[in-house]
Amino acid sequence: MSSPKKLFIKTYGCQMNVYDSERMAEALGGQGYVPTDSADDADMILLNTCHIREKAAEKVYSELGRFRPLKQAKPDLKIGVAGCVAQAEGAEIMARQPLVDLVVGPQSYHRLPELEAKARSEEKALDTEFPEEDKFDHLARRPKATRGPTAFLTVQEGCDKFCAFCVVPYTRGAEVSRPAEKVLDEARDLVERGVREITFLGQNVNAYHGHEGGLAGLIWALSDIDGLERIRFTTSHPNDMDDALIDAHGTCEKLMPYLHLPVQSGSDRILKRMNRKHTAEEYIRLIERLRAARPDLLLSGDFIVGFPEETDADFADTMALIETVGYGQAYSFKYSTRPGTPAAEREQVAEEVKDARLQQLQGLLKDQQRAAQDAMVGRTVKVLFEKPGRFDGQMVGKSEYLHAVHVEAAGLAPGDLKPVTITASNSNSLAGEL
Ligand code: 5AD
Ligand code: SF4
Repeated sequence: MSSPKKLFIKTYGCQMNVYDSERMAEALGGQGYVPTDSADDADMILLNTCHIREKAAEKVYSELGRFRPLKQAKPDLKIGVAGCVAQAEGAEIMARQPLVDLVVGPQSYHRLPELEAKARSEEKALDTEFPEEDKFDHLARRPKATRGPTAFLTVQEGCDKFCAFCVVPYTRGAEVSRPAEKVLDEARDLVERGVREITFLGQNVNAYHGHEGGLAGLIWALSDIDGLERIRFTTSHPNDMDDALIDAHGTCEKLMPYLHLPVQSGSDRILKRMNRKHTAEEYIRLIERLRAARPDLLLSGDFIVGFPEETDADFADTMALIETVGYGQAYSFKYSTRPGTPAAEREQVAEEVKDARLQQLQGLLKDQQRAAQDAMVGRTVKVLFEKPGRFDGQMVGKSEYLHAVHVEAAGLAPGDLKPVTITASNSNSLAGEL
């Protein structure tokens, strides 16, 4: 028997790419590939790329350049580009960089086995279609191996919102929901193999419409699965937060009190120019309703500073919104021009101004994050343990609020869910005792 071929996948960007990388590895499992953690001994390297901000393609080119010596040493090595950069610029990358044997977009990776065979037969292989068929119907059933206690599960892809800064509607296409039975089958499979927490993924996950009652309906159906303890979902748009989903935060025990709800800006003028279709006030009212349903909800968000035409006053509105809401966690970015999107054509904010605003905004968010973490000291939270820590006898897991918690105790195993009293708040995690 020939020894298995080794597959190295490097994943960039969002959790949806993490999920896709797993599924791509499984798709190539049927071709005799096993995963490896190092590019050096790989027979195939896949870069699963992200196109959300500037210099995405440049990063891919420089990463590819680093593989040149590997390919020289092992001419049989196949190199592929997957993900959103592949979708947007794959053909050009293949033409410009001879190292690339294969290009596959996010909607076509069920065709990887054929593409791999084509690449092996000395041809170049490219597929960036939005095929008629659903890739999930054509992917092999997921293997039966046991898994860690947490898993991602993509339930929705694409976006119809067309925020003026964003490439997602172009790279990932229109909003599509997977049928609920398929999602729940996959979830049951995961739980049978040891998963205790599932995070539903979608670019616009709360626009999910594959189940009666939308995402809330799907969450309630998922919560009926015995052995599954925790449910999360990401990423959401404020305008798709319906009453049933707000309610579920107060009534569905398995739904965790953590919500990522990006607002991007606190200025109504900028929100309008961003095509967000809600005001700052509407967002704040929504947060109030969510907190009325679940008072201890920990909020997370995304912010963009230096969107075209953003003034000091607009930025001050964003800072004020952050003060009002209070975030436990957040991601913030300088606006980055994306060719083909409406905002790319507008008057840009100077780089120094963007830098200064980002620093100020991140200072405030960091203080809030710190305060939310410090407020956990003395409280008892429930921790789902995931893996051993850096020190002997230490285990690390996550609280309901997604804080990493370190505990030193004998006999803990991944998958254990235990009450832990928090004793200290360190730079990036909490420490606690059983
Ligand atoms: N520039 C900066 N940030 C962006 N995002 C999306 N597009 C851009 C862009 N052109 C951010 C948004 C989004 C997150 C995933 O990435 O905040 O919520
Ligand atoms: Fe991009 Fe807006 Fe769609 Fe989110 S909602 S993926 S930011 S277009």
